[in-house]
Amino acid sequence: MTTVSVVGVGYLGAVHAASMASIGHTVIGVDVDERKLAELSAARAPFFEPGLPELLVETQDSARLTFTSDPSAVAAATVHFVCVGTPQSADGLHADLTYVHAAVESILPHIGPGHLVVGKSTVPVGTAAELAGTVRATGAELAWNPEFLREGKAVQDTLRPDRLVYGVPDGDAGEQATEQLDEVYAIVLDRGTPRIVADYPTAELVKTAANSFLATKISFINAMAELCESAGGDVTVLADAIGIDDRIGRKFLNAGLGFGGGCLPKDIRAFIARADDLGAGEAVSFLREIDAINLRRRERMVELALGECGGDIDGVRVTVLGAAFKPDSDDTRDSPALAVAAALHAQGAVVTVTDPEGLENARRREPQLTYEEDLTTALTGAGLVLLLTEWSEYRQLDPVTVKRLVEHPRLLDGRNVLDPAAWRGAGWTYRALGRP
Ligand code: UDX
Repeated sequence: MTTVSVVGVGYLGAVHAASMASIGHTVIGVDVDERKLAELSAARAPFFEPGLPELLVETQDSARLTFTSDPSAVAAATVHFVCVGTPQSADGLHADLTYVHAAVESILPHIGPGHLVVGKSTVPVGTAAELAGTVRATGAELAWNPEFLREGKAVQDTLRPDRLVYGVPDGDAGEQATEQLDEVYAIVLDRGTPRIVADYPTAELVKTAANSFLATKISFINAMAELCESAGGDVTVLADAIGIDDRIGRKFLNAGLGFGGGCLPKDIRAFIARADDLGAGEAVSFLREIDAINLRRRERMVELALGECGGDIDGVRVTVLGAAFKPDSDDTRDSPALAVAAALHAQGAVVTVTDPEGLENARRREPQLTYEEDLTTALTGAGLVLLLTEWSEYRQLDPVTVKRLVEHPRLLDGRNVLDPAAWRGAGWTYRALGRP
């Protein structure tokens, strides 16, 4: 077993640290955020992620997982995972690499020959090559090992990933880095996880390409939804029909309000910006369209809501089901649901938002909205209900029971997860994106 450090214990780092400790490594988590460290040191997850609290308790009880704000603690480890965020820059395009540079610099005085620094953050292609020089100056080596975890399934995606990708330098240094990573991931590899060894730029591009492809799939089906709206088709039936072809596949063809969160939107924008910088902008210019289609779904939802209220939503009591960017997450970064709620509020609607996990983050992001934890209270007296994040409790709502609570039985299904016949049958006006 290896002693590893994890620099940056935000979303990615906390899950990675706990997961590495759970497979037997001794893990030192380092961060500058004392609040996060205090939570993690008390074996509490600073955010909602199924499975993480149990892992934190189990690994801290065995004393294999500790947290500190002192970067010199990494000297006890030989493999150092860099897991800090790469948020969108103020220009709204490029990835901000401030945290990556700061994280690497903070450990440089404490690493040396035989050590391996492993970048996991999502970075613009070329970043690893840029960082390699400073890392090698200490005698250590650098590898890039992108993370593909999904929020809500992060623990599973870390311990049983679809694949491991190592970006390593040529020659002996690359072979040694590969061996060190194989040792750390031995248990994961023994489960039959495919491992791809590549150069730095390819490893970095695997991550950006994967996210771009997923975003493209979602925007493709949402473009078809736009056509269905004009031509009178049903995009859910269309998705089932094309998805049966296993070259296409049904996953990520759920039409609706589109993608949000801390990854897909910012990552495709950063990819476009990086490609432009490299003089290869034309190759990914279609991603601008992917972004535009995605944002148009939010506008369409607002239009539908206005349409339901005869063009004037001023003073209408609107209940929004969902604030998180997707179910099983409390993350409201670039949340389509919250964007629509804020837009309706700006048009004069009296908006109440409910969500099983995301209200605390939502309140911080859009403080002008009203938030209600209790679903029944949120629905009571509603003049219009919008289902915008498909939590299972909303999918299971009973149209007859909910009708008794609201003032007007008008429902917009922004995620195409309810049965139109059941809701219409119970006396509701049911409308959805991409469905007649
Ligand atoms: C994504 C990638 O899946 C993951 O591999 C990468 O490491 C980080 O970005 P995540 O942001 O957690 O993960 O969410 P994901 O489950 O991919 O969903 C992204 C968004 O797409 C959500 O807003 C979701 O609601 C939306 N979505 C997803 C759709 O609108 N339709 C679909 O069919 C699937």
